[in-house]
Amino acid sequence: MILVTGGAGFIGANFVLDWVAGSDEPVLNLDKLTYAGNLETLASLNGNTRHVFVQGDIGDSQLLGKLLAEHKPRAVVNFAAESHVDRSIHGPGDFIETNVVGTFRLLESVRGYWSALPEAEKAAFRFLHVSTDEVYGSLKKEDPAFTEENKYEPNSPYSASKAASDHLVRAWHHTYGLPVLTTNCSNNYGPYHFPEKLIPLMIVNALAGKPLPVYGDGMQVRDWLYVKDHCSAIRRVLEAGKLGETYNVGGWNEKPNIEIVKTVCALLDELKPRADGKPYAEQITYVTDRPGHDRRYAIDARKLERELGWKPAETFETGIRKTVEWYLVHGEWVRNVQSGAYREWVEKQYKAAP
Ligand code: NAD
Ligand code: DAU
Repeated sequence: MILVTGGAGFIGANFVLDWVAGSDEPVLNLDKLTYAGNLETLASLNGNTRHVFVQGDIGDSQLLGKLLAEHKPRAVVNFAAESHVDRSIHGPGDFIETNVVGTFRLLESVRGYWSALPEAEKAAFRFLHVSTDEVYGSLKKEDPAFTEENKYEPNSPYSASKAASDHLVRAWHHTYGLPVLTTNCSNNYGPYHFPEKLIPLMIVNALAGKPLPVYGDGMQVRDWLYVKDHCSAIRRVLEAGKLGETYNVGGWNEKPNIEIVKTVCALLDELKPRADGKPYAEQITYVTDRPGHDRRYAIDARKLERELGWKPAETFETGIRKTVEWYLVHGEWVRNVQSGAYREWVEKQYKAAP
């Protein structure tokens, strides 16, 4: 059994779906079901005994103690976090609560469980912390891509909270010997991405005839990785990563935001042309920039390739086409997210205890 936290969110759910499809080992999925958690994404696993879902907070030490004792996982993969930079600017409190305090409490719960394991199980145990390239701050045009040696220079409340969590994970290894691994990944995209993030927002707004808001001059660079490739990298690091090490994960796909938006528009022009025959790019609208907006991220993923033999399966061209196609055939998933109907799953599943 492995314990996955945040497994009802975008990357966590893709990870859980792939894991259950490719392994006989069961998954215990602990997720608080914040606005970003969506059980509808996991509907195909209903009735599957290899997926056990529990609604709860990574910071709930009592619940964690009970779950760890009962299910005895051999590994924990920690996806649970507040993940959206804009929300962190508007309201940083939840980011500190979950990403910093929550990670601390989770580490303590796991340490208590791990330290009481028999020696062989203790040695085999892994705590994999899923983090972001944003901890390294912003690159200038001429800078080389981030390696694992880059200094931490987080700029947003989100990235500062993730940086703090990475430091806690590192310290729990150095001080207590907890067998940890950390991955720092670039921007993901793909199925089940919440439509507040750039790519899904552009797809759903384009189809709804709404403006496509591009922050500032649209020349900020992000480095894009198809979500299934991120999941395969995490599986590989979990399987063979060196204890206490960090691994940068990326697909060598640096693109300015405006190019991403234009690519999405062009794919929609091809796959679902506007009724009036005009290009979707007409909907692009430049808006006020994000405060403190990082100019460029880029990941040097050579360590992961060299040491663990990992490579992404998708190019940006194949991945973005799959993504746009996915959104075109999953209109109901999008509508349920936008209307809030996806929350009914939570209410149906979790009635107040009698
Ligand atoms: P997401 O916002 O889509 O999902 C986060 C999930 O965590 C949700 O299901 C939410 O309900 C759950 N959660 C939030 N607070 C919780 C708590 N206190 N206890 C238990 N569950 C909680 O995020 P995502 O995009 O899937 O990101 C997953 C992880 O990957 C995060 O740690 C994020 O920092 C990291 N990451 C994301 C990207 C990206 O491009 N999305 C890139 C690199 C790293
Ligand atoms: O780099 C990894 C990070 O990528 C993850 O750690 C975060 O969890 C994830 O949300 C993502 O952060 P970004 O801030 O890069 O993602 P977002 O989709 O919010 O924005 C991508 C870029 O597009 C960014 O430069 C801001 C810009 N943008 C975003 C939105 C939502 C726009 O121009 N318009 C928009 O409407």
